[in-house]
Amino acid sequence: MPSGGVNPQLSAQPAPVTVRVPAKVNLYLGVGELRRDGYHDLTTVFQAVSILDQVTVGPAGRLVVDVTGEGAADVPRGRDNLAARAARLVAKAAGARGGVRLRIDKAIPVAGGMAGGSADAAAALVACAEMWGLDLEPGRLMAMAAQLGSDVPFALQGRTALGRGRGEVLAPVLSRGAYHWVFALDREGLSTGAVYAELDRLRARDAARLPAGADGVLAALRSGDSAALGRALHNDLQPAAVRLRPRLRRVLDAGRELGVLGAVLCGSGPTYAFLTRDAGDATRVAAALAGQGVCRTVRRAHGPVVGARVVT
Ligand code: C5P
Repeated sequence: MPSGGVNPQLSAQPAPVTVRVPAKVNLYLGVGELRRDGYHDLTTVFQAVSILDQVTVGPAGRLVVDVTGEGAADVPRGRDNLAARAARLVAKAAGARGGVRLRIDKAIPVAGGMAGGSADAAAALVACAEMWGLDLEPGRLMAMAAQLGSDVPFALQGRTALGRGRGEVLAPVLSRGAYHWVFALDREGLSTGAVYAELDRLRARDAARLPAGADGVLAALRSGDSAALGRALHNDLQPAAVRLRPRLRRVLDAGRELGVLGAVLCGSGPTYAFLTRDAGDATRVAAALAGQGVCRTVRRAHGPVVGARVVT
C-alpha cells in the first residue's frame, strides 16, 4: 500500500459479534484431596443445559461492561469481570489496541453453581476472536479458557464431558438421548470457596466416605437411560452446601415428593437440579415447585447442548 494511504479494510471498525453460551449441571461431582494451590482435585461429569447467556462484543475506546437480565446487579462491571479478562487475553493475542464493549445478557443464575461467570468468559473468548478475525489453533482458545478458570473450558466445548484436575482437563463422554431438567433457584448465591471449606471441616470431623465414582452416571448416559441417570446423580458438595444453607433441604424434599427421577445440587449450589421424565413432566414439576414457594423461581431446560457459539 502506498505510504499515507489508508487500507479501508484495516481502518474499518470491526462489526459487533454475539455469542450464546450454556449453563452446566454436574451429573457427578467427586471431590478429592485439597491441593497445595488451594484447590481440590475433582472428578466430574458435566452436561451443558439450555439456559443461555448472550454476550455481545463491539469496539470501544475503553473497556465497558454492561450487564442485563437475571441477577445483573450482582455481576462485577470492572476489569475483574471474568469476561473482561477473557477479552483482554484475546486482545493481546490479536494485537488489538483500544477497548471493547461487552454486553452480557444473563439468564444463568449468578453464584448459583451453574458456571454463569465462566460461561460469559467462554463467550467473550469466542466473540472477541471472531470480531478481531483471530485464526487460532483449536487448542489455543482452550488454553486461554483454562487460564481463566476451571469451568471455562467446558463452557467453550459444551455437550457432555468428564472433567478432572480442577475440572479443566476434559475428556469426551458418550451420551445418548435428551434429558429434561427443572432448576430451583435460591434467593441468594453461595460462595464456592466457603462450600469447599465447609466440606473440609466436615471431612476433618467425620471420616470421609469414599465417593461413589462416576461409573453409574457414565453407564446411564451411554445407554440413554434417564431413570438410571436419576439414581446415579451425585455431588460430594451437597452436605456442605446444605449445612451452610439449611433451607435447601426443603427444596430437595419438595422436588422428591413430586416424583422426579433424581435430584442433585448444581456445583457448589445453591441451585438444585431435578431430572424429570420428559418435557411434559418438566412442565408439571416446574409448576408444582413454583407453587410451593420453597425457592425464588424455577427454570426448565434440556441437555446436552453445544458450548459457546456465534449467533448468525
Ligand atoms: O474456581 P473458583 O476460583 O471460582 O473457586 C473459588 C474457590 O473455591 C477456590 O479459591 C477454592 O477455595 C475453592 N475450590 C476448590 N477446588 C476446586 C474449585 C474451587 O477448593 N476444584
